[in-house]
Amino acid sequence: MRVFAVSDIHIDFPENAAWFSNLSREEYQDDVLILAGDVSHSLEDLDRPLTALARCFAKVFYVPGNHELWVIRDLETLSSLEKFQKVRAVAEECGASTRPQLSPEISIVPLFGWYDYSFGEPGPELKERWADYLACKWPPAYGVREITSHFIQMNDSVPTVGSGTVITFSHFLPRIDVMPDRISERNRFLYPILGSSLLDRQIRRIGASIHLYGHSHVNNRTTIDGITYINNAFGYPAEEAFASRRLLCIYDDEGIERASP
Ligand SMILES: [Fe+2]
Ligand SMILES: [Fe+2]
Repeated sequence: MRVFAVSDIHIDFPENAAWFSNLSREEYQDDVLILAGDVSHSLEDLDRPLTALARCFAKVFYVPGNHELWVIRDLETLSSLEKFQKVRAVAEECGASTRPQLSPEISIVPLFGWYDYSFGEPGPELKERWADYLACKWPPAYGVREITSHFIQMNDSVPTVGSGTVITFSHFLPRIDVMPDRISERNRFLYPILGSSLLDRQIRRIGASIHLYGHSHVNNRTTIDGITYINNAFGYPAEEAFASRRLLCIYDDEGIERASP
């Protein structure tokens, strides 16, 4: 069995939608796919890609990204928390599991999250440009720390896993030093909305050896204190320079990692 990983497929772009439509229906029938969020803004449009991917793989694991929680122009009467529940229900119906699967050989654990400014406080440019601030809607008195805490608490029921390979995954970054050094100062204004260090605490408590994350759209792999952190975002069509735009095999029965065409 192999485990493939990808995030940020953003099927609102026709070029990205064509990718999952053309994925082999035969090649991955014994394999698992981890899909780490940002599939679509539209609840209506989630069904088709998730169902298609569930047919290609033996099992698909999924967490919603921030784009799935946008309620602007989609389910405007709902809060983003209510949309989260709907997204989760649609995913489960389509065969994309949002629940951990624990076993002595290999465990796969979805982790929910958000960003809580643990990587820095947002500056004026970020406050003006970051779409979530307008596109998401939260209950009164919910700031980013309350939102993050709400989602992080949902992961508390996952036990420490004591055996086998443990792969956790989240849409958001668990620590900011997974970002490569090459990121220019100019682009670091985005760091406050990338994730939360609370995720890293959970990953380490659970006992992961591999953690997949999305959201940054900057493909990278780095090992820190015994955990290998991997980003394999499919990304936007214009991001070919730093997003791989293909599946990545992050585990197989022999523990070999390799890219898939
Ligand atoms: Fe994304
Ligand atoms: Fe995202």
